[in-house]
Amino acid sequence: MTTPAPPTATNTMNVTGGAAAAQLRTVLITGVSRGLGKALALELAKRGHTVIGCSRTPDRLSSLQSELASASESMSNNNKHLIMNVDVRSNSSVEGLARDLVEKKAIPDIIVNNAGTINRNNRIWEVPVDEFDTVIDTNIKGTANVLRHFIPVMIEKKHGIIVNISSGWGRSAAAQVAPYCASKWAVEGLTRAVAKELPPGMAVVALNPGVINTEMLQSCFGSSAALYPTPESWAPRAATLILHLTVADNGASLTV
Ligand SMILES: NC(=O)c1ccc[n+]([C@@H]2O[C@H](COP(=O)([O-])OP(=O)(O)OC[C@H]3O[C@@H](n4cnc5c(N)ncnc54)[C@H](OP(=O)(O)O)[C@@H]3O)[C@@H](O)[C@H]2O)c1
Repeated sequence: MTTPAPPTATNTMNVTGGAAAAQLRTVLITGVSRGLGKALALELAKRGHTVIGCSRTPDRLSSLQSELASASESMSNNNKHLIMNVDVRSNSSVEGLARDLVEKKAIPDIIVNNAGTINRNNRIWEVPVDEFDTVIDTNIKGTANVLRHFIPVMIEKKHGIIVNISSGWGRSAAAQVAPYCASKWAVEGLTRAVAKELPPGMAVVALNPGVINTEMLQSCFGSSAALYPTPESWAPRAATLILHLTVADNGASLTV
């Protein structure tokens, strides 16, 4: 799916999507300290939406908190953003985050399961066991932890859109990144299955962000990563697509 066209009287899905995009939302993004998650957080804040973000590097989290405040300076929601130190691999930490947000009445309208990691380029038999485990624990189990604790909260609220960040390598494969490919194919499968479990009013999609110059891309592409777009140029397109998602998209595999 490409960025939806502006609403027209004859296109019901786009009318719904357009109306939805105009509302101010609370968006939970995992993995906000750098790369795509950070750029998306800043873009959404600039548009007036409230961002709840998490990742693990404390100094990057505190600088993001002030960058978000500046991005939404002219908006009435200035300083309402919440940035937390949460490791998505920890089921209990994600559970604590969900509990916290319920207490603060900051239940997300949209969740972007973005936190992810990749193995260093290596053939599968050369990938250290702990590296394989980290990829699986973050990309699959981290996503599942968020689904486990936030879907019930969204069901209670009777609405919610969940975006599981996938990859081109969740739909194709490459040498040297087998653990990562396995994890992103799992994200696609997980998304399709969960879509069948959600009640009306909710949707979950898998979203391939494209190929963007981030630390992750530098890890697998080396210096060629510089040939690809920056996260800052990607974020406006991604934000528009995500804000236009509706329940009609449930179960879809989309690409920015
Ligand atoms: N860049 C691309 O071309 C591309 C292509 C396809 C898919 N993707 C996907 O897009 C997403 C973002 O990738 P990126 O390129 O922006 O990668 P990145 O620059 O490496 O950023 C990854 C982010 O995830 C966070 N993170 C990692 N492990 C975490 C954990 N256990 N708990 C919480 N946060 C964690 C990192 O923060 P801390 O280390 O501070 O926790 C960081 O903020 C990933 O899911 C990736 O697989 C990227």
